[in-house]
This record gives sequence, structure tokens and C-alpha cells, in this order.
Amino acid sequence: MHNGTSITQFIIEEQRHMTGATGDFTSLLNDVVTACKVISNLVNHGALVGVLGSAGSENVQGETQKKMDILSNDVFLKSNEWAGHLAAMASEEMDDIYPIPAKYPRGKYLLTFDPLDGSSNMDVNVSVGTIFSILRCPGGGAEATERDFLQAGTQQVAAGYALYGPSTMMVLTTGNGVNGFTLDQNIGEFILTHPNMTIPADTREFAINASNMRFWEPPIQRYVQECLDGKDGARDSDFNMRWIASMVAEVHRILTRGGIFMYPIDSKMKEKGLTGKLRLLYEANPMSFIVEQAGGSSITGTERILELQPESLHQRVPVILGSRNEVERVLSYHQQG
Ligand code: AHG
Ligand code: MN
Ligand code: MN
Repeated sequence: MHNGTSITQFIIEEQRHMTGATGDFTSLLNDVVTACKVISNLVNHGALVGVLGSAGSENVQGETQKKMDILSNDVFLKSNEWAGHLAAMASEEMDDIYPIPAKYPRGKYLLTFDPLDGSSNMDVNVSVGTIFSILRCPGGGAEATERDFLQAGTQQVAAGYALYGPSTMMVLTTGNGVNGFTLDQNIGEFILTHPNMTIPADTREFAINASNMRFWEPPIQRYVQECLDGKDGARDSDFNMRWIASMVAEVHRILTRGGIFMYPIDSKMKEKGLTGKLRLLYEANPMSFIVEQAGGSSITGTERILELQPESLHQRVPVILGSRNEVERVLSYHQQG
């Protein structure tokens, strides 16, 4: 039994140090936390409550939606639309932005989310997660437009993820370090269990979907080949490899023991006119904010992700993130061409 700091207490105490805080933001974060608890409960019950399998529909990205993609999107909308903190929301599972319905008051924040990350893992009972990002609405709210969401990641007020793994965890940053909380199912509260999470600068573990190897660009080919060569190659060191197919689970592992995660651009994507796999506003930006706050780095290959100027709501970007020295090595391989 853990009698520690609850996430609510933690957020309130953190807000006390901020001048001009009205409690609005604290209350918004609380609603996000509630949404993640509801999703956790659905994920945990799985087949018992009929949430596995495909919904038979496609999202705006042309991906087949799982039942849980749609259910968890609805949970996020319902939990966060009523309280008056938001002007609008945007999600992986909705073509357009979701302005707060007229029957509710509108607030000064914007919320973006990937309601269920790694959803192909649902049916095989492997870890999935939720990713979210909070922005200020330029102009203070009222009538939010898609353009209001197109802010560089450096503008994020907060970002976090929930990981539905062997235990459910919430990992959060408000720009003041990264803290992890574990859900105590008995009392229904997230408890601070991983204060001040940091990513070691060095690692000998990489994560990439190697089935795409023949499509990668030369700098990624070189980096991964050197990892595979291990002690016999340029790195003079053996590397380990992991691929969970859920960015949340990969980032959580990296926050726990270091590592590098890569979903680079490749020739197959380029042929289809795609600019990457992962989405900037609700996957790459929140995760980059968390990773940088934990002392790691996050780049496209050539640029810092958090400084990109988004051009559209569902824009995709290449992502290379994790232990600083390895990410810098990948950057240098790109610079060398
Ligand atoms: P989502 O389920 O939200 O569409 O995201 C899945 C993403 C990411 O979390 C993961 O790293 C990657 O797609 C998995 O890609 P592969 O299918 O290529 O393994
Ligand atoms: Mn995702
Ligand atoms: Mn998703």
C-alpha cells in the first residue's frame, strides 16, 4: 500500500509556484487524468467488455480504426469538453478540430491527443498508451481554428502519456522536469512513484522497425549497421534491440533505462507522398517535450523536432529520440550525408 503524493496533490503544489495560476490548468490536467483512468479500465477488461477488434472504419490517415481507437477518442472528448478550460481539441482519430460545443463555456487552452497509441497491440494484449499535449489558444480562446493548433512544440504548456502496461502509469511534464505516477487501482489514484525521471546520455540499446531496412536512407543504414556489427565494428561495443510497436512503451523504456528510438523517413513513405510515420502535433511534439525535459534529445534526423513550424493538423515527421549522445551521433551522420 502506497501512501505517497497523488497526482492531483502534485499538480496543485506545482501550480502554487507559478505566478498568475488560476487553477484552470490544474483542473484541465485533472480531467485528462480521469480520461486516462477510464481508458485504462477499458483496456484492462479487454475481451470481457467487448473492446477488442476492428471498428471497420478508417481514420483521416487511411488507417483502419480499432474499436478502442474510437472508444478512447470518445472518452477524451466527453471528459474534457464540459469544464470550460478548452477552446478546442484535435486528435489522431478526427479529421478536423473539435471546437467545444456551444452549450459549454470555452476556455483558453487547446488539447491534442493520440487516444490509443500502438493500437495494433490491443488484440494481442501488449502495451498500449495515450499521448497528449496542451497548448495555449492564441487570442484567448472563443472561436478556435485549425491554424491556432499550428504552434511549434516549444510552445507546449504541458505534455504527457499514459502507459497501459503491467501497471498503468502517467508520465507528465509541465516544463519543469518529468515525473511518473503509478495508478493504484484500489484507490483509483495515480501516485508519484518515479520522481524526476532522467535519460542516461549513453546507451547500447536501439529500437527501430527493421523490416523497413531496405527503404532507409544512408545515415540510418549506417547507424543501425554499426549497432549490428557490435564489438567487431566501428562502435567496438555490442548493442541490444527492442521493438514494441507502441511509441509510448518505447519512450517509457528509454525514460527508465536509456535507449534510442527511430521511426525515420524512408523511400517507401516518400513514394506514397508521406513525410514520416508519426504525427507531429499529438505524437512527436509531446514525446519530444518529455524526452528533452528528461535530458534526452529528439530530432527528425537533421532538425530539432520541437522547433518545427507545423503546417497541418495531421502532419507526419521522422522521429529519432532518446539518449543524447546517440541522437547526436545520428544527427552527425545526417550532416555528413
Ligand atoms: P498508432 O497506433 O497511434 O497509429 O501509433 C502507432 C505508431 C507508434 O506508436 C509505433 O511506434 C509505430 O506506429 C509502430 O509502427 P509499425 O507498425 O511500423 O511497427
Ligand atoms: Mn500513435
Ligand atoms: Mn493512435
